Amino acid sequence: MGSKFIEVATLLMLALVTKTQAVSFDVKRYGAKANGNTDDATAINNAWKDACAATDPSTVVIGEGTYMAGSLTFQGPCKNPVTVQVKGTIKAPKDTAKLKGQDGWVVFQNVKGLTVNGGGSFDGQGSVAWSINDCAKTGQCNALPINLRLTGLANSKFQDVTSIDSKLFHMNIINCNNLTLQHITINAPDHSLNTDGIHIGRSKGVNITGADIKTGDDCVSLGDGAQQINVENVKCGPGHGISVGSLGKYQNEEPVIGVTVRNCTITNTMNGVRIKTWPGSPNGIASNLHFEDIVMNNVSTPILVDQTYCPYGQCEEAPSKIKISDISFKNIRGTSATQLAVRIICSKGIPCKNVAISDVHLTYNGKEGPATSECANVQPTVTGVPASLACAKSLPS
Ligand SMILES: *[C@@H]1O[C@H](CO)[C@@H](O)[C@H](O)[C@H]1NC(C)=O
Ligand SMILES: *[C@@H]1O[C@H](CO)[C@@H](O)[C@H](O)[C@H]1NC(C)=O
Ligand SMILES: *[C@@H]1O[C@H](CO)[C@@H](O)[C@H](O)[C@H]1NC(C)=O
Ligand SMILES: *[C@@H]1O[C@H](CO)[C@@H](O)[C@H](O)[C@H]1NC(C)=O
Repeated sequence: MGSKFIEVATLLMLALVTKTQAVSFDVKRYGAKANGNTDDATAINNAWKDACAATDPSTVVIGEGTYMAGSLTFQGPCKNPVTVQVKGTIKAPKDTAKLKGQDGWVVFQNVKGLTVNGGGSFDGQGSVAWSINDCAKTGQCNALPINLRLTGLANSKFQDVTSIDSKLFHMNIINCNNLTLQHITINAPDHSLNTDGIHIGRSKGVNITGADIKTGDDCVSLGDGAQQINVENVKCGPGHGISVGSLGKYQNEEPVIGVTVRNCTITNTMNGVRIKTWPGSPNGIASNLHFEDIVMNNVSTPILVDQTYCPYGQCEEAPSKIKISDISFKNIRGTSATQLAVRIICSKGIPCKNVAISDVHLTYNGKEGPATSECANVQPTVTGVPASLACAKSLPS
């Protein structure tokens, strides 16, 4: 082999090594103090700006330590893929006035090829906010910042990330495409208001694989336009369970199509798996929704379809016009905390179509007797389910 060849090969290899070595932007070099007190937001935001503009793939390093930070914005588009490696804990201001008018505390927006990892935490310090959240009374729930707002991301991944005590939703995923969330931990007490764990709306191809979610509202909720969503290996509870909806509150909602929820364990929650739509809704679609291999531990209503969802009263009389079709509940086992374990209440305007229930075994230990079920406006296909859980009671339509 000629020395010329070796020279060229060596040069090529060097070029490859240089190309794949991510450039690192350590927030401490940008002045972050990580003393839990000084506001490090500017340092972190500046490190991001340089990483995002870098001519090679790059990494923003947020090392060990406690960082106090006002609003953080990870805004694209970026020149190359960027990784944000968070090893420390980033804390939001407790005082809601410090983030006034902002819908997100940490915002990731319009980035392709983003990776967020490192095992660190985002602590929203929400306890003050929960005490002033009056949305159960007013129905207006959007005046507080979401911990992690993911908007317009594509081909991206969040891995080993923890969200603690968000003021409102922990993670809100909107207009994203091909996003994987792996090993996500979410932690807030069961009395924290409107702290949905992971909410997904108007997004395609989101894969949640492995999550441990303890919070005060839905562990995972799927809003309008959620399509090709996979939720697997999730532990949920306390919380309100895993939900599709609520749907039909607003005009021009997009269809929810293609949701699989598999191998999840739901413990001490208000609901297990649920589909909820508002009465008096505009037309809409929820189809191809599959719930399988789910263990329920002491869940108040393990299986629930509710097309008369109206949590604050004052709803229209008219039936929901969200058309629910191609739904399955398969291999769902465990215990119900109330006697009425299965409720499938479909719209009297548009009955549910093509609903399959199979291998559902839920027990209730109260003195009223064994677990029961009730249904309206649905004729499910049933296999391997005791009669008491297979629409034992039919409500008038
Ligand atoms: C989806 O995103 C991942 C990065 O998280 C990427 O490796 C993969 O190629 C993307 N898939 C498509 C179809 O673009
Ligand atoms: C979700 O991600 C996991 C881990 O990367 C992968 O094994 C699984 O196939 C993905 N599922 C879907 C539906 O993309
Ligand atoms: C089911 O989920 C648990 C986590 O809750 C995980 O440890 C286990 O490996 C998963 N099983 C399968 C078959 O994916
Ligand atoms: C079961 O759930 C009920 C109602 O949510 C709760 O009061 C009770 O403490 C739970 N039981 C156990 C053993 O966790």
